[in-house]
Amino acid sequence: MTTVGTLHGRDFLGGAAISAAELAGLLDDATALKAARASGERPSPAPLEGRAVALLFDRPSLRTRASFEVGTRWLGGHSVDLSGGGIGLGTRESVADVARVLDRLFDAIVVRTPSGRAVAELAERSRVPVINGLTDDEHPCQVLADLMTIRERFGRLEGVVLAFVGDGNNVFNSLALLGALAGMEVRIAHPPGYGPRDEILERARELGRATGARLVVGADPREIVAGASVLYTDAWASMGQEAERDVRRRDFRGYSIDPGLLAAAPADAVVMHCLPAHRGEEIADEVIDGPRSVVFDQAENRLHAQNALLAAILGPRAGGAR
Ligand code: CP
Ligand code: NVA
Repeated sequence: MTTVGTLHGRDFLGGAAISAAELAGLLDDATALKAARASGERPSPAPLEGRAVALLFDRPSLRTRASFEVGTRWLGGHSVDLSGGGIGLGTRESVADVARVLDRLFDAIVVRTPSGRAVAELAERSRVPVINGLTDDEHPCQVLADLMTIRERFGRLEGVVLAFVGDGNNVFNSLALLGALAGMEVRIAHPPGYGPRDEILERARELGRATGARLVVGADPREIVAGASVLYTDAWASMGQEAERDVRRRDFRGYSIDPGLLAAAPADAVVMHCLPAHRGEEIADEVIDGPRSVVFDQAENRLHAQNALLAAILGPRAGGAR
């Protein structure tokens, strides 16, 4: 089951890799698949019947890995978790050789590794589609689920204001790019030296020209949450930055979503976090556990959004052809 025929056989490496129409179609499909799952139905014929998906993670993961495993199985295929195997992408073996082996065995590869360049090379050298399961630069699967969650809450994405408080890295970058495609206003407040790269901002602004999206970069969390419908935050120290944790704790002080900041936002604003959370740092306990948190809806929606993506990339084309 897919309404997005144009994604068949394609990679999904980042937020700028799809069109606004493809994004809208994926979110519609994700919503339909979520409803089907809730009522105990499965898409028939099974979109991933006989398909095998490699999960190549060389960084920790709970949500991404688990949701791809559960989703692949639910859609009729199966996955193999290669995370524990010490694949050593680009170290034990060249990226190109890993690609040339995996594409003989699998129908798609989901990869999590720091380097966006390595993921791009894997995609280039492999004959099967590659899905970005997080790099230092992007986390597009997370943001598909986030946009689905926002749409569930507010009934639309166009014109919705999202205020991101924290580090301008992978999650923010994908929010800026996919939010631009969806016609949203995406804002960020970050401490000096922790902003998104110019290249990402330029690309998001370029994508947003066609959709009426806006991008706002600032430093004051209180200013950016004023009038926002969604407050979003992420770790101050991401995976791979563990050694900088103390410095970052100091630099990011004041960039927390706590009850004081939430009070500066409209009364119907919701709070989002991709997880894992560092309670007492970027988000306060009473906020993440409070009535305005949609954090665990986001986590669940990883499954439905990725199911839509897998069905679009690997499922039968219109008319049933593979
Ligand atoms: N949000 C997210 O990607 O979680 P994991 O790192 O646990 O996969
Ligand atoms: N920015 C975080 C996201 C975790 C899902 C990290 O890269 O660790």
